[in-house]
Amino acid sequence: MTEYRITGGRRLSGTVEIHGAKNSVLPILAATLLAGGECCVHNCPDLTDVAASIAILEHLGCRVVREGDSVTVDSRCVLRSDVPDELMREMRSSVIFLGAILARTGEGTISYPGGCELGPRPIDLHLKALRQLGARVEERGGTLRCTAPELTGCEISLSIPSVGATENAVLAACGARGVTTIGNAAREPEIVDLQNFLRALGARVRGAGSSVITVEGGVPLHGGEYRVMGDRIVAATYLSATAAAGGEVELTGVDSRHLATVAAALYEGGCAVASGMDRVSIRAGGRLRGLRPVRTAPYPGFPTDAQAILMAAQCTAEGTTVFVENMFESRYRHVDELARMGADIRVEGRVAVVYGVPRLHGARLRCTDLRGGAALVVAALGAEGESAVTGLEHIRRGYARLEQDLAALGADIRVRDT
Ligand code: EPZ
Repeated sequence: MTEYRITGGRRLSGTVEIHGAKNSVLPILAATLLAGGECCVHNCPDLTDVAASIAILEHLGCRVVREGDSVTVDSRCVLRSDVPDELMREMRSSVIFLGAILARTGEGTISYPGGCELGPRPIDLHLKALRQLGARVEERGGTLRCTAPELTGCEISLSIPSVGATENAVLAACGARGVTTIGNAAREPEIVDLQNFLRALGARVRGAGSSVITVEGGVPLHGGEYRVMGDRIVAATYLSATAAAGGEVELTGVDSRHLATVAAALYEGGCAVASGMDRVSIRAGGRLRGLRPVRTAPYPGFPTDAQAILMAAQCTAEGTTVFVENMFESRYRHVDELARMGADIRVEGRVAVVYGVPRLHGARLRCTDLRGGAALVVAALGAEGESAVTGLEHIRRGYARLEQDLAALGADIRVRDT
């Protein structure tokens, strides 16, 4: 078993380049199935979720070559339309492959996807959108079989602006005859990144970033080259780590507009945050202040993926911070671990009240999920004494270089095999 050993209390300083966004690269890799030529995707982080996506593409018959941070996919040789259960269970995004497989082959067989345990994560909106496009979906014994000899453009209106359902609908609509409009679409930057990739292949998609996306389907797509945008949640993690530990850090390779709500919260907490076009920097020293309630919401609201991470920094703030988690039912599993470090947090349903304590102390900690795990690292960097963090497989799903980046900034973080 591998664990992090982190001795807190070291100030962070320096510059870090943020790697490509996990939540962009996964749908983009699924979208390579639609291309009639080779796609070269740059800035692909080395994550276990990316490896799982590559394994799915290879299973389907694609030729995939990874060289450093670039992944080349040739999907002209796709032979199959099923995703095996063990790959489906590896990550939630495996469900995004369904729309692309269906558009490419006219059929698709998957089982229910895995991913972080954040409470119920249904896929009803994904399936409804695919049905509206003309797919027949049958479920038997946990297996979903979809068939659609022909997909037809239509009007889809999502009851919730689901990120995954929006991506699935866009991908399937690219293979549909005619025009599809997706109303109440999710507006996350990762959807804009997917649109930009599809456009680089010749697709006619517009509106991403707003709540109505229009796809003129049935246009043959060619190969192309694309660079994935920087990961705003990795950036939010390093900003929060600096807020917790103190110091002065600059992050490059990330669009600062994507960090507006996180930066505003850290500013309110007493940090100096400055934003440039593709960079953001933070200066933090002394104790943070409690914040007005932080409510998670679809983009451009405060991201649910940064809730645990900011909470970790606010544990030692002067005053109280209330968090309201509106996106997922069970996204406070990190709270019990933070309590081991001396944090004073009360959770009731979707609300967590963080009463700031003067300091946290090192403890033995276990990652409960991806962002909850990152939150423990943030807390440990600001704590007194040594922490041991296990369950790093969660962190490896979304952070390619967490220990290297933090060590380069001066953190005392080591990987230990036990
Ligand atoms: C994406 O998940 C992200 N994952 C998540 O990031 C992120 O937390 C989430 O969006 C919200 O921003 C990827 O992009 C790979 P949703 P997704 O569909 O698409 C409900 C991370 O840490 N819903 O927007 O699964 C759902 O239960 C991860 O990187 C339905 O009811 O999220 C939730 O309450 C974790 N039916 C809400 O919508 C559906 O069919 C939003 O979920 C689909 C969703």
